[in-house]
Amino acid sequence: MAITGALGGIGRGFADMFLAEGAVVSVSDLTAPTNLPDNMFGYACDVGDETAMVGFIDEAEAKSGPIDIFISNAGVGFDDGREGNAAGASNQSWETSWAVNVMASVYAARRLIPSWKARGGGRFVIVSSAAGLLNQIGSASYSATKHAVLGFAEAMAIEHQADGISVHAVCPQYVRTNMTKGMSFAENNKDGLLEPSDVANALKVSISKNEFLVLSHPVVGDYFKAKAMDYDRYISGMAKLRSKLNLTDVKL
Ligand SMILES: NC(=O)c1ccc[n+]([C@@H]2O[C@H](COP(=O)([O-])OP(=O)(O)OC[C@H]3O[C@@H](n4cnc5c(N)ncnc54)[C@H](O)[C@@H]3O)[C@@H](O)[C@H]2O)c1
Repeated sequence: MAITGALGGIGRGFADMFLAEGAVVSVSDLTAPTNLPDNMFGYACDVGDETAMVGFIDEAEAKSGPIDIFISNAGVGFDDGREGNAAGASNQSWETSWAVNVMASVYAARRLIPSWKARGGGRFVIVSSAAGLLNQIGSASYSATKHAVLGFAEAMAIEHQADGISVHAVCPQYVRTNMTKGMSFAENNKDGLLEPSDVANALKVSISKNEFLVLSHPVVGDYFKAKAMDYDRYISGMAKLRSKLNLTDVKL
């Protein structure tokens, strides 16, 4: 199996969980993770670059055999709207968010789907976010790209169910990682700040049930249902929350 963005955080939580289950785990990040336990192998891969992604998959398969589970976990988040404009982030922030949060999953799936179809199946896990179902106040680029990759996950699940390919979309709220370090809204969140191992355990449960949506924070499912029931109430509620927040509290 293989995981991107696994130098630490949620990616490493997945890696440790699958290793404990007896898997051989290929982990990658912008720099190759080192000092790894037996049966965990590190690679350098910029996931926003298709050639690098294909190189990672091919090298990992050459060393450890065919990849049965791929976790597209690497992600970036930038603060937008600091200038009082939701579209105020630089094009570079938008392009990096699009490449890492969306296209990385497309590149990996494009490489893996033909061999999975030939072998009769595979499992693709996309780490989106609660921001993919709801929104991330203060970051339009994060919210939009996490919605986009959820749409890709759905499309892949629909297109390839008949090929035996399972797809899971992981949509956590706040988790204690580098991404949330120093973010007071996350660290003091009323719905709790989970550990990476909690998200890994939620994925394990969803795999056992072959469930598409992985909700490490079940309350996110309640918020999502409420949004679907009354979109305007959801927008007004989020706007009210936004007006109460100092954007430095939600800094990504
Ligand atoms: N921490 C949270 O509260 C939270 C909540 C919801 C979703 N997520 C998502 O979980 C995933 C993991 O994030 P995390 O919280 O563990 O944070 P993290 O910062 O510890 O991990 C993200 C990793 O992605 C790597 N990365 C960034 N750009 C890359 C690139 N171009 N190529 C390869 N690797 C790259 C980083 O080096 C980093 O190691 C992300 O997709 C994030 O959006 C996190």
